[in-house]
Amino acid sequence: MTVSSLAARVVKTPPPLVLVIFGASGDLCARKILPALAELANRGRLNERFSVVGVARTEWSDDDFRQVALKADPTSGETWAQLVGSFRYVTGEYAATETFDALREVLADADERLGTSGNRVYYLATVPAVFGLVAEALAKEHCNVPGEGGEFVRLVVEKPFGRDLESALELDGRLHRAFHEDQIFRIDHYLGKETVQNVLALRFANAIFEPIWNRRYVEQVQITVAESIGVEHRGGFYETAGALRDIVQNHVMQVLALTMMEPPTWMDAEHIRDEKVKLLKAVAIPSPDEAVDRAVRGQYLGGTVEREPVVAYREEEGVDPKSETETYVALRLYVDNWRWAGVPVYVRTGKRLAARVTEVALQFHEVPFLAFEGSLSRQLRPNVLVLRIQPHERISLHFGAKVPGEAFRVQSVSMDFGYEKAIAETGMDGYTRLLFDAMIGDPTLFIRADEVAQAWRIVDPYLHAWAEPGGGLHFYPAGTWGPHIAELLLQRSGDAWREPVL
Ligand code: BG6
Repeated sequence: MTVSSLAARVVKTPPPLVLVIFGASGDLCARKILPALAELANRGRLNERFSVVGVARTEWSDDDFRQVALKADPTSGETWAQLVGSFRYVTGEYAATETFDALREVLADADERLGTSGNRVYYLATVPAVFGLVAEALAKEHCNVPGEGGEFVRLVVEKPFGRDLESALELDGRLHRAFHEDQIFRIDHYLGKETVQNVLALRFANAIFEPIWNRRYVEQVQITVAESIGVEHRGGFYETAGALRDIVQNHVMQVLALTMMEPPTWMDAEHIRDEKVKLLKAVAIPSPDEAVDRAVRGQYLGGTVEREPVVAYREEEGVDPKSETETYVALRLYVDNWRWAGVPVYVRTGKRLAARVTEVALQFHEVPFLAFEGSLSRQLRPNVLVLRIQPHERISLHFGAKVPGEAFRVQSVSMDFGYEKAIAETGMDGYTRLLFDAMIGDPTLFIRADEVAQAWRIVDPYLHAWAEPGGGLHFYPAGTWGPHIAELLLQRSGDAWREPVL
């Protein structure tokens, strides 16, 4: 069974199935997957014939896994507790035949007891290094096709998907030898966020925005994904990633594609993803010199964030004291197509910045002629449309209004639409939504193989440029908006970063 349209949201519960989580003793499972399942259970959005099997190398019993699962429900509800009672756990090496023998036994038992009919969703929540290995082992053990009476087998793959274009293509090759593309659900949790999906509603359910959504009216685009947190307990992982791989290659590219793509013919998986790929293909690839010139990479020093003193990145647990890993990136990109040619797209992301805020801002051209006396209109600023993705999701339009009085003074004001106030309904959390979609077989909010490749094609030149001697790293005190030099990226074109209105 597949459902592949954003409009087809009438499915109350997924079909009977067993969710098999590889990496079940890990952090991601405890922090994201199990709480998402608990939310679905509490909302009555799971089939009665559903259960979970955890697989990992850590020696746990069924009961150890169930104890961790119980903690995932903040309401300590009866529904979840009952469901957790059926969870099973298999200890073993990921590619070992014995692991799969044990898994097969547990799954057969679930099918018999619960009537889960051989339907499976395998979730790869392991370290990325073994994604390919587990997929291949699943195929070798014939777990890539539905068992007796089953209709589907799906594979959910976490990020990061590769380290660069070459490794992503290699991983895809391995996955495709084991599973068909339509069985593979690559996660980018930003796509599960309601406000990211709302970009589509704003653009394509309203007549007034689309006519001005192009180079004739838009002077520049800014995408900010700022975090106030540091690397927390993930220093070891982050050392192998950095901000470009961790945020730009996936979350930023998805937001950029949805904001700038052409209207899809239909709001379904194939059409939306076709348009995203087309847009990503149009993002200009810089020459090696341009890659140095159009990018800034930074790393946080100690400082104060939200009134608390915090340590420098190099002092974080699991981080090399001489680390050259970037915790901040700013880029100037261009989209070479009819709609956007010549419009700079400034993107920035960083950890330990002044605030947590994700937003897209479209700044429009200035008025062609000012019919007021210069001194009175100096404060007139260009119009800006801001799509605030988080926190306090909202859409704001900034424009100039006259300050009352005889003098003709203009002040910048804003018109705001806040989600919380305007719409009482609350959607599911991003992970919850994506897990549900994987279980009902809707791939719309998952990343297709060609999208991943295009996104790597865009960021690869910066990875290469930074690997060269002189691929400079600029430091910034925690709690600021990043290295000063990032201002220059915009000043050269007479632009400036927007200070988000918090
Ligand atoms: C993850 C990154 O993909 O996204 C993390 O690995 C980052 O480093 C997180 O903190 C941000 O997600 P959100 O939903 O808090 O914006």
